Amino acid sequence: MLRHHSVGHWLIREIALNLTTKINLILAATFFVGLSLAAVNAYLLTEDNALQQVTDQAELIMQEALAVRSYTVNEVRPLLNQANDGKFHPQTIPAYSATQTANLVRQARPNYSYKEAVFNPTNPRDKATPAEERIIRQFIADPSLDKLVGSQEIDGVKSFYIAYPIRITNPRCLACHSKPKNAPAGMRAIYGDEGGFGWQLNEIVGTQMVVVPYTLPTELARKTFLSFIISMVAMFLVLFLVINIIIRKLVLKPVAQITRMADETSEGNLRKPEIKVTGNDEIADMLRAFNRMRRSIIKIVQMMKKMQAQAKRNLKS
Ligand code: HEC
Repeated sequence: MLRHHSVGHWLIREIALNLTTKINLILAATFFVGLSLAAVNAYLLTEDNALQQVTDQAELIMQEALAVRSYTVNEVRPLLNQANDGKFHPQTIPAYSATQTANLVRQARPNYSYKEAVFNPTNPRDKATPAEERIIRQFIADPSLDKLVGSQEIDGVKSFYIAYPIRITNPRCLACHSKPKNAPAGMRAIYGDEGGFGWQLNEIVGTQMVVVPYTLPTELARKTFLSFIISMVAMFLVLFLVINIIIRKLVLKPVAQITRMADETSEGNLRKPEIKVTGNDEIADMLRAFNRMRRSIIKIVQMMKKMQAQAKRNLKS
C-alpha cells in the first residue's frame, strides 16, 4: 500500500516535470526563432538607417558648400571688387571660400571633408588624391554621370562619399584658368603660373566631393541593435517566469490534487474531504466533475456494503 502511494507521487512529479519541460522547450524554441527573425530584421533596418544618416549628412554638407559658393559670388565678390585696391583677393573665389569654411568645420570634425579635387589645381591643397583621381576618371569616362556615391576606407575609417563632376561650362572661368598671361597679375603673384591653367571649355577638370565617416551612425546602430536584443531577452525571461508560475498554479497543482485523490480513493480511503474548488474555468469544472464522480463511487461502494450486509443477514436468518 505504501509502495503504491509513493509510486503515485513519483508519477505526479514525473508528469509535472515533463509538462513544464515540454512547454518550456516549445517556448524557448519559439523565442529563438522569433528572436533570430527579429534580429535579422532589426540589423538590416539599422544598417539601412546608418546609410540614410550618412547620405543625409553628406548632402547637407554639400548644400552648405554650394551656399557658401553663391554667397561668395553674390555678396562678397561685388564688395571686394568695389574696393579697387589693385590687389587680388582669393576671398572672391567660391572654391576658396567653400574649401576654407569646410576646413574650419574639419577642425571640429576631423573625418568630415569637402573638397574640390582637380588633376591640375590652382591651389596645391586641391590636388586630387589617387582615390579622387579614380572618381574623376569615372566622370570623364561617362559624361552622362552627374553624381557618384559610394563607400571607401580613408585612414582606416570607413567613409561614405558623394561626388559631383566639375565641368567648365562657363567661358568666364577661362579668364583665370586657361593661359597664365590671361589671368590677373595679382592672382599670378599669389599662385604662380604652375597650376590651375590649361583648362578647356566643357572639360571635366575635377570633382566636388563630400566625405562623411560611418563611425557615428554605425555606433548608434550597434547600440540600438544591442538594446533591442537585450530588451527582447529580458521580456522573454519575464514571460518565461510568469508562464511557469501560471502553469504551476493553474494546471499542475489541480492535476496533482486529482491524482492524489484518485490514488487515495482507489486504495479505499473514502473519508478524505473533497477537493476545494474555486473559480469557473475548465480546470475548476474538471475538479467539480471529479468530486461528483468520487461521490457517486462512494455511494455505490456504500450501497454495495449495505447489500452485502443484508445478504449476510438474510443468509443467517
Ligand atoms: C578671377 C579668377 C578666377 C576665375 C574667373 C575663376 N577662378 Fe577658379 N580659381 C581661382 C583661384 C585663385 C583659385 C584658387 C583658390 C584657392 O586658393 O582655394 C581657383 C580655384 C578653383 C577651383 C579649385 C581647384 C583649384 O584649382 O585649386 C576650381 C574647381 C575652380 N577654381 C573652378 C572654377 C570655375 C568652374 C570657374 C568658372 C565658373 C572659375 N574657377 C573661375 C581663380 C579664378
